Amino acid sequence: MKNNPSAAARRDFLKFLAASPYVAAGGGVAAFLADSGFAQDIKQSSFASIMRDRMSVVEKPADALTVFDMEATARTKVQPGHWAYMASGTDDDATLFANRDAYRQVQLRPRRLRDATKVDMQVDLFGTTYASPVFTCPTGGQGSFHADGELGVARATRARNTMQMLSTSSGMALDDVVKAHGRPVWQQLYAPRNWEACVELLKRFQNAGISVIALTVDNTTGRFSETFFRTRPKDLKQCEGCHKNGFEGGRHRPLTDGIDMRGGPRTDPAMDWKFVERVRDYWKGKFMIKGIDTHEDAKLCLDHGLDGILVSNHGGRSTETGRGTLEALPEVVAAVNGRIPVFVDGGVRRGTDVFKALALGATAVGIGRPTLWGLGAFGEAGVNRVLEIMQAELKLVMGNCGTQKVADINRNYVATPHWKS
Ligand code: FNR
Repeated sequence: MKNNPSAAARRDFLKFLAASPYVAAGGGVAAFLADSGFAQDIKQSSFASIMRDRMSVVEKPADALTVFDMEATARTKVQPGHWAYMASGTDDDATLFANRDAYRQVQLRPRRLRDATKVDMQVDLFGTTYASPVFTCPTGGQGSFHADGELGVARATRARNTMQMLSTSSGMALDDVVKAHGRPVWQQLYAPRNWEACVELLKRFQNAGISVIALTVDNTTGRFSETFFRTRPKDLKQCEGCHKNGFEGGRHRPLTDGIDMRGGPRTDPAMDWKFVERVRDYWKGKFMIKGIDTHEDAKLCLDHGLDGILVSNHGGRSTETGRGTLEALPEVVAAVNGRIPVFVDGGVRRGTDVFKALALGATAVGIGRPTLWGLGAFGEAGVNRVLEIMQAELKLVMGNCGTQKVADINRNYVATPHWKS
């Protein structure tokens, strides 16, 4: 083994992974590889101990200093297969890391000597006031991270006056989630393949009082979740009790019960702008698209009467070797030119990240995996603490940069020296 050049190269590569500060946060992939026995070398490296010093397993939510402590803690509690699914991007996970890296490349331009005692993070999103511009992203089957599942996220977001976006692949009934959230959630839409089924689903949203939907369009063709396949348990027999119908969306999904979702939980690869027009004609509430990454598509959203855009690459789980969403955000914002709100998610882990996204034109900013880390670590209480941390960090950076209101945060507060535009 010692003289094997490919083993040495692999060791070097794994050390490189472990050393990279944004890899450590890129969805837990490096830490996961290190722990999985796949890379014994990393365990002994000093880089690994630095990573661990920055990610502590904690005993109670209040002990978590950052969302990364929730990640470390959840990692010890969540089933390995579920963890691998969550941590994975696609292929080489390049887009997953790009999401995180984009935040590292943007720098703050703080303004001094302004009263920092009056920071107000409140935002108005489609007529509802929320405590901060941080929201929880739709992620399917949250019950696989903690029994509290979507209801836990609903209660935590209610407590923190935070917008919750719910996945079509929710494991809990929509009415129950809305009740726990205390107001209608925003509902993500994976459109079924036939129109009648889609209308049925939209009716269910209407009946539950939903007024904002977000059609996910970034992942209609499926994906190759390589990290998931490499790192999930080899023996899947233990999983068959729950995953009776296979591993992609095989679990019970109350929201789509009785609706013909054949073809899988993901939308029809043939979906196009005509389909968007159909939904636009039918749906009277606010209609957003989740997964827009270019100014060309942003303009088409305007042409098709959309009410909002969520710049997203599915947390690096759809198109591989894409840009980080933060880097894609400015061109979308420029194309929209203030006519509709632009939201962003992907790689947001710190209050400074939220601030940078707002500075580059986002109206609000979503957290996907950090929500699941909090949930996996302590259920509802963990999500609550994640939101508390994100809000506290945002408040700190807003005060530190001399911005009292979210509306004060603009392009002048960031520098993007590494970017072409
Ligand atoms: C997702 N995401 C997602 N998006 C969506 O529209 N519907 C869904 O059901 C899911 N499910 C899902 C499961 C898991 C495990 C992950 C990690 C992500 C994408 C999600 O809404 C969001 O775009 C990303 O998670 C944001 O990136 P970060 O914060 O995870 O880096």
